[in-house]
Amino acid sequence: MNFKQKQLEYINLFESCLSSFEREYCSQSNTLKQSMFYSLNAGGKRLRPTLMFSICDSLGVDLEKVLPFALAIEMIHTYSLVHDDMPSLDNDVLRRGKPTTHVKFGEGIALLSGDGLLNLAVECALNSTFESDKIVKCLKVLLNSSGGNGMVAGQVLDLENEKNSVNDEKTLEIIYENKTCKLIIAPLVIGGIISNYTDLDLLTEFGKHYGYLFQLTDDALDVIGKEENLGKSIGKDENSDKLTAVKVYGIKGCIQRIEEECKICLSILDKLQFNCEFLKDLVLETKNREK
Ligand code: IPE
Ligand code: IPE
Ligand code: MG
Ligand code: MG
Ligand code: MG
Repeated sequence: MNFKQKQLEYINLFESCLSSFEREYCSQSNTLKQSMFYSLNAGGKRLRPTLMFSICDSLGVDLEKVLPFALAIEMIHTYSLVHDDMPSLDNDVLRRGKPTTHVKFGEGIALLSGDGLLNLAVECALNSTFESDKIVKCLKVLLNSSGGNGMVAGQVLDLENEKNSVNDEKTLEIIYENKTCKLIIAPLVIGGIISNYTDLDLLTEFGKHYGYLFQLTDDALDVIGKEENLGKSIGKDENSDKLTAVKVYGIKGCIQRIEEECKICLSILDKLQFNCEFLKDLVLETKNREK
């Protein structure tokens, strides 16, 4: 099976699990359920579940068993986008090709919808059928990566460094590592834990650089991308004077950094002791991505 077929297989597996989860999920509020599944069903590349599947698949784990954690990570990622788009953060009106959750449902519901998704992620992970010490280990990784030692902290730093007159590469790196890399490392490490793979440090190292690559391309696409491909508005980083790679290195320098990080990712993958052809193709796809 080639890369594209495999990628589609992972995405389809995720989408069908999400649909059946939605059918069974009950909330005391229809509005809350609608808003939560509005953002979840709006599409998205499903990158984080794909990363988790690819590790588990290469290491021979039945992917059906991985689904609770795949759902959980995508719920946390989706909630991070719902909140990221709100007027008090990036103030964006378009996400995944659709009006953002606060535009569609209002700010109060968007805020609460994010809260709902975060809690549902944990409930979902607890539906896992793995032995309980494995579930606890994976949950610790998931929650640590998304909170005050991860994504949420990164979002705070991102906000604090808006309109920062200093083009500080070190600060950019810390923002990247927390707001983006940690939620990319998490599915790789969780996949590793589930599969009893021992070199979690190597997976972490790969995730860090793949996270850099991913956010570098995100920053570049905000300048040279097309709204219709990305499903989100462009030019917004410059408008808000964000501390991005384009601000620090210029667009040419940013593209050079993309090339460098791509090479680093591929060289780390060469050290993994299992078949990682899929991840190699994914790295190349990310380097060249238009969405
Ligand atoms: C967007 O993530 C936020 C960043 C970390 C750059 P994605 O580009 O993975 O968003 P979706 O899931 O495809 O919408
Ligand atoms: C978002 O970074 C990272 C998150 C934790 C959501 P951006 O603000 O650059 O992501 P986009 O460009 O809005 O998707
Ligand atoms: Mg942001
Ligand atoms: Mg944003
Ligand atoms: Mg961006």
